[in-house]
Amino acid sequence: MKIAVTGAAGQLGYELVRQLGAAAIALDRAACDLADPASIRRLVAWRPDAVINAAAYTQVDKAEQERELCRRINATAVGELAEICAELDCPLVQVSTDYVFAGQSGRSVPFAETDPAAPRGVYATTKYEGELLAAQCPKHWIVRTCGLHAAPAPGRRFTNFVATMLRLGTERDHLRIVDDQRCTPSYVPHVARAILSLLRESPQQLRGTGYGLYHVTNRGDCTWYEFAAEIFRQAQIKIELTRITTAEFGAAAPRPSYSVLDLAKYQALGGPELPDWREGVRAHLECVRSGTTG
Ligand SMILES: NC(=O)c1ccc[n+]([C@@H]2O[C@H](COP(=O)([O-])OP(=O)(O)OC[C@H]3O[C@@H](n4cnc5c(N)ncnc54)[C@H](OP(=O)(O)O)[C@@H]3O)[C@@H](O)[C@H]2O)c1
Repeated sequence: MKIAVTGAAGQLGYELVRQLGAAAIALDRAACDLADPASIRRLVAWRPDAVINAAAYTQVDKAEQERELCRRINATAVGELAEICAELDCPLVQVSTDYVFAGQSGRSVPFAETDPAAPRGVYATTKYEGELLAAQCPKHWIVRTCGLHAAPAPGRRFTNFVATMLRLGTERDHLRIVDDQRCTPSYVPHVARAILSLLRESPQQLRGTGYGLYHVTNRGDCTWYEFAAEIFRQAQIKIELTRITTAEFGAAAPRPSYSVLDLAKYQALGGPELPDWREGVRAHLECVRSGTTG
């Protein structure tokens, strides 16, 4: 199989390409710019057997100011990818987000794929619009994930919560961390392995019986404060942490208070196990220590 991966320079796209090896057609922004319909159309020339869209406008707060650009990349472009995949009769994997749920505070039951989406903010809304457009491709997988973090790769540093905590841990002796948003930090190599299993290891999927929407994260859940505490505990960094509220942090875009995803539908496929989120932290820190990837 030849599998085209958009967003190949991002943390998930880079890892998908790494795990695919020779099967990957790695498309970074220069090779496939989702802001440019003509650039997307050039995908046809590769005649891929499947397309994984790992590119996205991911700056959640900045999106509140760049609504049209965000919609173009996260929604309109996905519709164009879906059209191309339908023409090529190939599957489209669209990566989406836990932020499609409003997740009001007080909730403690993980969201299933059947729960109604209620996105708030520009990023979340456009990602949900992207899901609806991806679903117009007859062979589609929509994979919602959450809290992605990947270790640095040779010549690349990714922006994520673990990287930020490790940097701040060397610069500060005290941090204030949000403690009223609960979700599941997810280690990119675990999520990438699960996504590729949908394409590779489920023959019934390729016969078209199991396309659709799946939740794929690590297991368990925590607040950002608990996530930070675990990173510093495992990294043996001594730092004082103070719990703050979302309102005190004052981000531009709204976030769900609770966006833990139910993994039962993915798990029923019998694909690779999704480890606990703390194991994702351990694997990330091990890569940082050893200077390896994945
Ligand atoms: N990060 C998370 O915590 C998280 C949580 C839930 C879901 N997700 C979803 O997971 C997917 C992967 O996220 P990620 O964390 O890997 O994001 P990322 O590291 O920010 O990578 C996104 C990639 O998209 C590329 N991109 C942006 N605009 C583009 C355009 N116009 N044309 C082509 N490529 C463009 C970026 O290119 P440049 O490198 O050139 O900037 C970047 O390489 C996304 O769909 C995201 O919505 C992420």
